[in-house]
Amino acid sequence: MTISSSPFSLNSDTSYQRWREKKLEYFTQDVHSLFIEINDIASLNSSQKKALVNQVKHYNMAFYRFTRPSNHDATNKIKVHALAHQLGLRRIDKNICADDDKLTSIMVSQHKGQHNYIPYSNKRLSWHTDGYYNEPSNQINGMLLHCERPAKTGGESLLMDHDLAYILLRDENPDYIKALMHPNAMTIPANVLKGKEIRAEQTGAVFSIHPSGALHMRYSARTRNIQWRDNSPTKEAVTFLQNLWKNGSPYILKHSMQAHEGIICNNVLHCRTEFTDSDDLQKKRLLYRGRYLDRVSTSLSDNQYPD
Ligand SMILES: [Fe+2]
Repeated sequence: MTISSSPFSLNSDTSYQRWREKKLEYFTQDVHSLFIEINDIASLNSSQKKALVNQVKHYNMAFYRFTRPSNHDATNKIKVHALAHQLGLRRIDKNICADDDKLTSIMVSQHKGQHNYIPYSNKRLSWHTDGYYNEPSNQINGMLLHCERPAKTGGESLLMDHDLAYILLRDENPDYIKALMHPNAMTIPANVLKGKEIRAEQTGAVFSIHPSGALHMRYSARTRNIQWRDNSPTKEAVTFLQNLWKNGSPYILKHSMQAHEGIICNNVLHCRTEFTDSDDLQKKRLLYRGRYLDRVSTSLSDNQYPD
């Protein structure tokens, strides 16, 4: 795709309008209709794979449900790995809180490395894309969230295809897009723990174009610890997004993930409501999260089962 024919070029309104029309035509709010049932990941059949791939093509995300889960968490985790692998998510990013197999178990916890990060508490988690603080060479393009056990109450996931956020911003004011594509749009200060820098400051664009021609978004709605480029279009674009989260949008999908359900996506925008956990350790909310350098593969021929 040449730059001028990209729907993300501000010089090409025709390409943008064509792409926009298709995105909006396919959109549905009915999350339940989007779930794809997977009975056996070892023999993911071509129609299941086609359905997953088509969903990712249209919505940047797909929802699935394991219909024959194991009673053992560890076995289900292997299945999650296998699903990711079959959909081209293979280069997994190992963050400091990840398990040895690099999938991260998300549970209310205080154990090593997880020092009070909100994902490991039951507090509301604000809108973001994963790895917004990563350096460009470790950009998170794909993400997987799998629910092994839901919370007792709450813990609803809210999701928005970042392509739709782009459309809303560009329709409001194309200058917002120009501002958010600027390489200095957003700065995340260094992560310093007990006087030691464990991650350097990261400055970069909010919207960028992946080598495949797809749109990537790097974003956090946190108001603390984010430095926005100091000009009017940037500040207005940030306010526009904050208002979207505050006032809601028909393009936000909502779902409380149940046991053995998951989402596989091209790192779309997401957040989570607060929740109440069980007092029983065996029944505490448990999610597996994978962050990948790859985007979800939309090639149907790539169906090799992992060794
Ligand atoms: Fe996240």
